[in-house]
Amino acid sequence: MLISDKINAAFNAQIGHELGNSNQYVAIAVYFDAESLKGLAKIFYKQAEEERGHAMKFLEFLIDAGGKVEIPAIPAVQNAFASAEAAAQLAFDAEIRTTNQINDLVTLAIAEKNYIAQNFLQWFVNEQLEEVSSAQTNLDVIKKAGSNLLTVEAYMAHANK
Ligand SMILES: [Fe+2]
Ligand SMILES: [Fe+2]
Repeated sequence: MLISDKINAAFNAQIGHELGNSNQYVAIAVYFDAESLKGLAKIFYKQAEEERGHAMKFLEFLIDAGGKVEIPAIPAVQNAFASAEAAAQLAFDAEIRTTNQINDLVTLAIAEKNYIAQNFLQWFVNEQLEEVSSAQTNLDVIKKAGSNLLTVEAYMAHANK
């Protein structure tokens, strides 16, 4: 086994966090979909798929490293939102929390001098820069649009071409 029990457990926990984020983004996409905001819904359905992909990366790493995959219980997500801004804020907060989780994993891998785990985690360090940046943009654009969310739809259709 190329990783300690401690790293193995921490990576299993992260699989749970990534799957939890995936579920949360499906719920946000459904909220926008029900509001006929198809552009925003599409962004979050796609984001949900990406989060599942992140969980799979950790899972595959554990298998390759001779670890043991144990998918933890996934907490219930928030399904109701007071506004589009509230939904976008929740997504932004989730990305900040995830960044802190990834940083903690890097700290652990460094403490254990586990260079394989450190190298694997670098992809996630870079990914979080993009994730936080795009979550910030979504939140900013929704805030600027105020009650006219159709301008957000137009912006997203243009910006995500
Ligand atoms: Fe992720
Ligand atoms: Fe993410």
